[in-house]
Amino acid sequence: MASVVVMWEELVVMALARVDKNNFLRYLPKVCLTKLSAEEDPLADIETLDGPGPWDRTLLEVEVENPKAPTSDGEAARNRMLLFSANDYLNLSTHPAVRKASAKASLAFGMGPRSSALVSSHTEYHRRLENVLAEMHKKEACVVTPTGFAANTAFLSALGGIATHNAASRRPAEQEKIAVFSDALNHASIIDGLRMMERHQQAVVSVYRPSDMQHLDELISNCPLERKVVITDSLFSMEGDFAPMLDLVQLRKKHRFLFVIDEAHTAFVCGRNGGGIGEVYGIEDQIDIIVGTLSKAGGCLGGFVACSRKWSDLVRGLGRPYIFSTASPLPVIVAAYVWDRAQEFAAMTKHPATSPILSLVVGSEDAAIYASKHMMERGFHVIAIRPPAVAPNACRKPKRSIDGCRSFIHGAVVVRCFGRLFREFTRRTRTKALLADIRSFQLPYCCEANA
Ligand SMILES: Cc1ncc(COP(=O)(O)O)c(C=O)c1O
Repeated sequence: MASVVVMWEELVVMALARVDKNNFLRYLPKVCLTKLSAEEDPLADIETLDGPGPWDRTLLEVEVENPKAPTSDGEAARNRMLLFSANDYLNLSTHPAVRKASAKASLAFGMGPRSSALVSSHTEYHRRLENVLAEMHKKEACVVTPTGFAANTAFLSALGGIATHNAASRRPAEQEKIAVFSDALNHASIIDGLRMMERHQQAVVSVYRPSDMQHLDELISNCPLERKVVITDSLFSMEGDFAPMLDLVQLRKKHRFLFVIDEAHTAFVCGRNGGGIGEVYGIEDQIDIIVGTLSKAGGCLGGFVACSRKWSDLVRGLGRPYIFSTASPLPVIVAAYVWDRAQEFAAMTKHPATSPILSLVVGSEDAAIYASKHMMERGFHVIAIRPPAVAPNACRKPKRSIDGCRSFIHGAVVVRCFGRLFREFTRRTRTKALLADIRSFQLPYCCEANA
């Protein structure tokens, strides 16, 4: 495998030498903000996340306007419900330590120097966050981007740059293009990044059937291009299924491709230290590039690419969403950094569920909307997932569908919950009622789809 890693690193170095002829990236000033007193410093004395408290309910109990029931003053009445649709799996977004750190940061710095990271907004706080994220994923370096969407598109535009900047002429010749193999269920940010690569004639993209390793093996075996990349979500956000990581690692050994995973839904929440699926299986060294987001279990906003130092230089030099978008504001960066102390919290929420996403396939798009409305009426904010978030007419056998029904999905409802909320409610009859409700509306639709 070493030879493939070396081949890619050489390509990265050659592309960088063309892009950054004057070593601009190396001489970029490292912005440092005014030194604060210990009292003002948002990262001094971060509280230990010592267990659940009343804080975690703030954003879980929401009210939804009910336009059908106006109150006497003409305003819509509100129905209370429990939010089962958000990605804040550890409820960290409302933890007192996170609130305090981001409030202190905004008192000290406001929203921070408002420009792109390359201009003046990459501060020591951004660098500290990058360092902990790199460590968490056992990589040399990390680049923090404004969103997870930007992380995927920044990485893919840097990857595309390898084809362009190492091409003998203006456009890469066929054999200079990069062959990218992408799971059919990958996130829209991957799809859009790949479309950009195709548009610039940098890549030949092949989409393999969801988690179908035989199909992937066939596609790679029949591909004459030398530069091969496989990219997959580690946990598919609309289905709640994990990618077959160990099989992918075996295929990487066989075909020697660059392996890229999007840990958006697994970073912080899977693995002993929150290092995602790579840590769960102890295969961090078999994954070349890890993309992630701070906006799910991290409870904040932002994305990151964890990789080697050379790759991180390339992402900074060529990742257009990194270069041409304003960097994350300081209160957000500081709040995300607090996660570094949250490992104790993750260890504490020993929830037996393997994934924080539970996808319940209900049949047609109409059925999904009906099911969602049904849940909302009963006080559970469970949102319908419809095209384009899932393919219209896609057919799959859901691994975890209740009663194992096979169905055609045009729509599904996705329940997202983790940590305390789930633990607490599984003990309570309301959860039983929730599951009974889901069963009752799901069965007829599954049967209908099978008929
Ligand atoms: C797999 C995956 N990747 C990337 C993203 C984008 O992350 P963000 O919301 O931080 O832009 C998402 C968000 O839904 C996602 O599910």
